[in-house]
Amino acid sequence: MAAVFASTTRTQVAIVGGGPAGLMLSRLLHLAGIESVVVDNRAAETIEHTHRAGILERDSVRLLVDAGMDRVLRDGHRHDGISLRFDGVSHRIDFEELAGASCWLYPQTDVFVDLHARRTADGADLRFGIADTEVVDVETTPRVRYSDTEGARHEILADLVVGADGSRSICRDLVQGARRYFREYPFAWFGILTESAPSAPELVYTRSERGFALVSQRTEAVQRLYFQCDPAEDPAAWSDDRIWAELQARLAGEDGFHLHEGPVIERSVLPFRSFVQAPMRHGRLLLAGDAAHTVPPTGAKGLNLALADVRVLAECLERAIEGRDDSALDEYGERALARVWKAQHFSYWMTSMLHRVEGASDFDEQRQLGELAGIVGSRAGSAYLAECYTGWPR
Ligand code: PHB
Repeated sequence: MAAVFASTTRTQVAIVGGGPAGLMLSRLLHLAGIESVVVDNRAAETIEHTHRAGILERDSVRLLVDAGMDRVLRDGHRHDGISLRFDGVSHRIDFEELAGASCWLYPQTDVFVDLHARRTADGADLRFGIADTEVVDVETTPRVRYSDTEGARHEILADLVVGADGSRSICRDLVQGARRYFREYPFAWFGILTESAPSAPELVYTRSERGFALVSQRTEAVQRLYFQCDPAEDPAAWSDDRIWAELQARLAGEDGFHLHEGPVIERSVLPFRSFVQAPMRHGRLLLAGDAAHTVPPTGAKGLNLALADVRVLAECLERAIEGRDDSALDEYGERALARVWKAQHFSYWMTSMLHRVEGASDFDEQRQLGELAGIVGSRAGSAYLAECYTGWPR
């Protein structure tokens, strides 16, 4: 029996996933005169309150501004460097001096809020809070089907489908014969938001004998802090006092660094892995962002890679649609993956240089300190880090 749909919509591009990647893609397509429909099984409020990383590369900021969202320039904070902290001493890496670039502290939640407001003002077709999403016939005439909150089924017929549906992507599995490249790590990050004034003007990436810690910021009154933990750690098992004792121990040092404490208002354990799936296209389906690749958070590359993907994807989709030239669809994956693998290496490298591995030998620990000393003591080494952190040119 043929399925009966409560509604059938025709569009040029159906986008599965309404996070920053999906919404930015829909905005870029809109600017190019291409129609899209965005679906996401989460409510917009849920995405708005899911805390993620907070660093935008120079080109991510440019993309936001060029696409008509410039709040980042007013509410974001430009950071011209970071510190690497080890043996109780911080060493600043000056991005401006070494790479002629900077990055911006602007949380992913704000990026989402800006994009959501922009697309709503555009009158975009955004369908949040749906369920049972299914993507079919991606080799010929793609369709996205889902249930609304009342359980009625709907169908979207599209020329192309983009899977921007994050690390638990359903679209990824439709790419037949794809290769998956994995690396698991024996640790995770414990992340907190705390009501306390920033402890440092820039990010402090710390290697200590007790493990990694990161000092980041959000506002004048809220800090974002992380420390390496066991992946199976239960956030509820940690009292505020225990969290602060752990962070203080990891950040202690002779240089007078002072960690400001306050109430912990949010806590969670972040998964940690490196993952790439290639190719990023199968038939009329293309993947973008975390659906195709995940990086550990140490290099702050996740959101930046997703935005870089959709910038290239929008351009390739435009060529494919306007010029009826499908070779542009293959070019997308090649261009995106070139950046993805540089970011994979950088994220892996920052992770391995700064984290404690259970059972590491004395040799491994001293070698790790030697690597850090080598980087901060070398202009070339520091410049490499600065270039990677602020982002590769287009
Ligand atoms: C953050 O502020 O949440 C943040 C910053 C840098 C990272 C990861 C997370 O590498």
